[in-house]
Amino acid sequence: MLPQDFVLKEYSQLADKGEFSAQAPSNIALVKYWGKKDEQIPCNPSISFTLKKAQTHTKFTFEKRQHSNDEFDIEVYFEGKREKSFEPKIINFFQRIQEYSGFLNTYKIKIATENTFPHSSGIASSASAMASIAICIMEIEKSINPKMTNDYYYKKASFLARLGSGSACRSITDQVVLWGNTSDYRESSNYYGVGISDVHSIFKDFQDAILLVDAGKKAISSSQGHQLMHHHPYAGQRFEEAKQNTKRMLHILKEGNLDDFIKCVEKEALSLHAMMMTSSPYFILMQPNTLEIIQKIWTFRNETNIPICFTLDAGANVHLLYPKRVADIAKEFIERKLLNFCQNHRVIYDEIGCGANVIN
Ligand code: PMV
Repeated sequence: MLPQDFVLKEYSQLADKGEFSAQAPSNIALVKYWGKKDEQIPCNPSISFTLKKAQTHTKFTFEKRQHSNDEFDIEVYFEGKREKSFEPKIINFFQRIQEYSGFLNTYKIKIATENTFPHSSGIASSASAMASIAICIMEIEKSINPKMTNDYYYKKASFLARLGSGSACRSITDQVVLWGNTSDYRESSNYYGVGISDVHSIFKDFQDAILLVDAGKKAISSSQGHQLMHHHPYAGQRFEEAKQNTKRMLHILKEGNLDDFIKCVEKEALSLHAMMMTSSPYFILMQPNTLEIIQKIWTFRNETNIPICFTLDAGANVHLLYPKRVADIAKEFIERKLLNFCQNHRVIYDEIGCGANVIN
């Protein structure tokens, strides 16, 4: 489907006021998205596991305005308190999607969100937040078009979420999601995420222990990081590498080859951070404890042959990925060897999940 297919044509039947709540998870990329073109079009395809516990819950309240104009009337609350610093990001998101969901500026809107994990910690909080808001907007659209197909509902939710934060389009539905055009997957799209169904059973209960090395705010946001890919000397090679790794990962996911999975996932994580370290200006989001943890994982894997590997988001935290069958051994290893390197010994034991939901 193309952007014009997502334009809502008629919305005069909308309610004067209402309220919807939704929850959406974060996701962890196996093949990383880093670098975009205008209007949130990725420079390479990416693939992620949808998470289950790291979630944003959003309550979206709307009421008809007396006089609507081009300005949005929005208030954003975070954990019960008005958070004016989040409002420009939401306004920017609404400006991008007004073309597709034209009723937004006719309402006074209140968005109240809560996370189950620390904000701006490298856990993709903007992904889960934008995905949960997109689901609320789709609930409003569904109220005037109850016959809307599930396929359209989820595609448009992902399409809208992408315009809030690129990777958010991978937090809507399905366990494993591909975003970005590739000739290696027929339904793939630059505009929304698509679920990968051909996935080996070994991945269907994969675990992600998120080791919170630093739960503070990041020095460089991911939007700044994406910008820096524009004049990056290695951008071309990086996009090509990610395209090859997408093809490779689709094959790995189908065949269930854990050795190849580990090699591809860790290479992707380090390539992402190599891009950061070679940007102008350069920056480092890993911290000494990130590297300590990586070394410990490599030693453990060499000694035990347990298929456990790491990946990194745009932050210092380490995501430890492993199949459920080794969860007890992994937990023991984490608690004995890794928690000392985490801020306040914090870890979130997450796992692969199915996506966003409406809360009744
Ligand atoms: O969606 P954004 O703009 O926050 O970018 C996310 C980028 C990474 O998390 C580093 C990689 C990815 O594909 O999720």
